[in-house]
Amino acid sequence: MNSPHWIARFEKNRGAWQEPDWSAPCQMSLEDGREELARSFATFQLGETGGGTRLMRFVRREQERARKEGRPHEDSYERAFHLFLGEEHYHAEILARLVHYLGGTLIRRHWLNVIFRGVRSLLGLEFNLQVLLTAELIAEAYYGLLHRFAKDPVARAVCGKIAHDEVGHISFQVAFFRPHHIARSRAAAALWEWQFWTLLFFTERAVWLVHAPALKASDICRKRFRDGVFRAARSFVSRIRRDAPARLAHHLKSGTPGEQSPAA
Ligand SMILES: [Fe+2]
Ligand SMILES: [Fe+2]
Repeated sequence: MNSPHWIARFEKNRGAWQEPDWSAPCQMSLEDGREELARSFATFQLGETGGGTRLMRFVRREQERARKEGRPHEDSYERAFHLFLGEEHYHAEILARLVHYLGGTLIRRHWLNVIFRGVRSLLGLEFNLQVLLTAELIAEAYYGLLHRFAKDPVARAVCGKIAHDEVGHISFQVAFFRPHHIARSRAAAALWEWQFWTLLFFTERAVWLVHAPALKASDICRKRFRDGVFRAARSFVSRIRRDAPARLAHHLKSGTPGEQSPAA
């Protein structure tokens, strides 16, 4: 991974967005599903608040290994991940403001979040990042759809900002996962992809179970949500494969990601 590129990119992204007018009156009524949406954002807000302590421990270990092996560009891993987590924490901040704007309350615990954090810490850095990646693929669809369909302009603006950042995070994940994936044998790569789809399959269902009331109130049906998640995931897998288009492979090597817009 070309850490200096990602450091420059995350630094450039900081402060590049104008926050909406939080004092504007909310355009959603209770009938529009305002309470459901506030509850849904509160759950996502909780997910964005993690300190990343365990992840950073894994990253420092990986960075130490990269230094010893003299791998170029990988000795500033820690800074790149620190900035990446900084963006997640900023999402938590603006989501907290959005929950209050919608008249909701923040939460400190949710069963989905407990499972998510428990599963993340089961194995090493790669699995920790894979669980995070699964959440980001879902987030790309969730925020991308709400950016289009939420019935309030402030909610749409915040979702647009987060969807934009999550697309960048997925490219960051591509840069991390691709070298690991192409180093695998064909059988190991197939096995990795099988477990990736299995994890995504169950996570997407659990997320729909929790967020369906808010999404349905915003005219986002089951199929639209599932299609958005799986489209983002198919795109991710095609970008980490050995046979990814030559142009993409070149961009990743030079540290410039091939990007997509938020899920439609
Ligand atoms: Fe995020
Ligand atoms: Fe993210």
